[in-house]
Amino acid sequence: KRVLSVASECVPLIKTGGLADVVGALPAALRPKGWDMRVLMPAYRTLREGISDWPEVFVEEDLFGGRGVVKAGVLEGMGLLLLDAPHLYDREGGPYNTGGADWPDNPQRFAALSWVSAKIARHGLGDGWRPQILHAHDWQAGFAPAYLAFGGPRDVGSVITIHNIAFQGWADASMVDALRLPRHEFHPGSLEYFGGLSSLKAAMVTADKITTVSPTYAAELMRPEFGMGLQGLVEARAADVVGILNGVDEDVWSPEGEEIPFGARKMKGKTANRAALCAEFGLDVPGPLAVVVSRLTDQKGMDLLPQVLPDFIEAGGGLVLLGSGDKALEAAMNRLVERFPGRVAVKIGYDEGLSHRIFAGGDAVLVPSRFEPCGLTQMYGLRYGTIPVVAAVGGLADTVVNANPAALATGVATGITFHPTDAPAFAEALRRLVALHADSKTWGQIVKRAMAQPVGWDASAAVYAGLYESILRT
Ligand code: ADP
Ligand code: GLC
Repeated sequence: KRVLSVASECVPLIKTGGLADVVGALPAALRPKGWDMRVLMPAYRTLREGISDWPEVFVEEDLFGGRGVVKAGVLEGMGLLLLDAPHLYDREGGPYNTGGADWPDNPQRFAALSWVSAKIARHGLGDGWRPQILHAHDWQAGFAPAYLAFGGPRDVGSVITIHNIAFQGWADASMVDALRLPRHEFHPGSLEYFGGLSSLKAAMVTADKITTVSPTYAAELMRPEFGMGLQGLVEARAADVVGILNGVDEDVWSPEGEEIPFGARKMKGKTANRAALCAEFGLDVPGPLAVVVSRLTDQKGMDLLPQVLPDFIEAGGGLVLLGSGDKALEAAMNRLVERFPGRVAVKIGYDEGLSHRIFAGGDAVLVPSRFEPCGLTQMYGLRYGTIPVVAAVGGLADTVVNANPAALATGVATGITFHPTDAPAFAEALRRLVALHADSKTWGQIVKRAMAQPVGWDASAAVYAGLYESILRT
């Protein structure tokens, strides 16, 4: 059985966030469930050289102002389809923006990706491969189910996965024709969204199924605080909405595979990792060493750190933070280093290798998000015995069992959750962290329990496979 996955990023090729991790992990997770998944994504400038000798399997002469060619290849066992359309993707900068400003033609750039995917779904590739399911991810692939649905009777099922409803793929109403959308669908019951267009809404109206990346986020999306304008549509389609928890790639995130290996029965290695991390950053931390690896944005609640940190440091805690994003937040994080020398280390930037050393060496990972569709770093934390301290929202609530007295008594606690996402609740959670960490017997039990919690893809891959089955048309 065959499924085409359409997205704007995919590990190991290009990544700005968890979307890439998930898109990159799904093919291997679905293979044992009987699904052959190929991933279609743009051939950005950095990827073009590597595919020069890949065979062409699809051509579109007029792809929104230029020629588009799909090239097929296999990377680390994953079937990849790269859409080479230099007029859209051969540019200096990131996949969505350059120097902080979005590419003005983003609607066309990602409509093109979606257009090609719908054509592949209808007509197949030059090598004879044709999917039975079209699986679109986020706003960048949002028009894919729409083009498929508006193109006449179809024998291919469609799914949209919402990784983050905050990004909705807005375009001006004047672009209906330019984006090759049917004018008669421009009304609030279909494509129209607050007087304009939203590629995410287009997908949510036209796809057979709507998934999101955790059960709690699926429920939250029906409420205005989280649905961000689309809550009514989520509610109207509730029968087709399902929350499927992300997994982590257990080959990439494995304590046994780290530079200084460790495991639930080899916790000396964890201690060595902590010492190495402290040495790397010149830290001396008597209490719990907290870590953060995150985009620095409003979503992630990082602005709360300067408010809660003084008491935590006073109580013996320390912090290693790796992140980048909002310039004001970056500056605020750097100021913490000056305020708490020897206790706080901050690295602004993106660094995969360092992120591994951080999860291996930390005692606790902090994820104080205002909303979090799933979140991956709390799951790395579980796997690495780096206890998650998280806001009880979205996927964070689904993956961490709060160490309240009842959970401690029955031995099921895996971390600390707090609510609401504000400084007083976060500060209280950190006080609980300090107390738990000081009680070495209880702490050891929580760490053991956390490391035993399954966070891989197996269970969720089976749910995706069942979902695809349910919408097969051939
Ligand atoms: P989001 O997709 O909202 O950013 P997730 O928790 O789903 O949040 O995924 C973030 C991914 O990006 C994780 O794999 C995390 O380790 C990684 N990441 C975030 N910031 C950095 C960074 N500065 N350096 C290395 N990896 C990072
Ligand atoms: C989004 C969300 C994050 C989720 C990721 C992968 O970036 O912000 O919570 O884990 O997508 O689904």
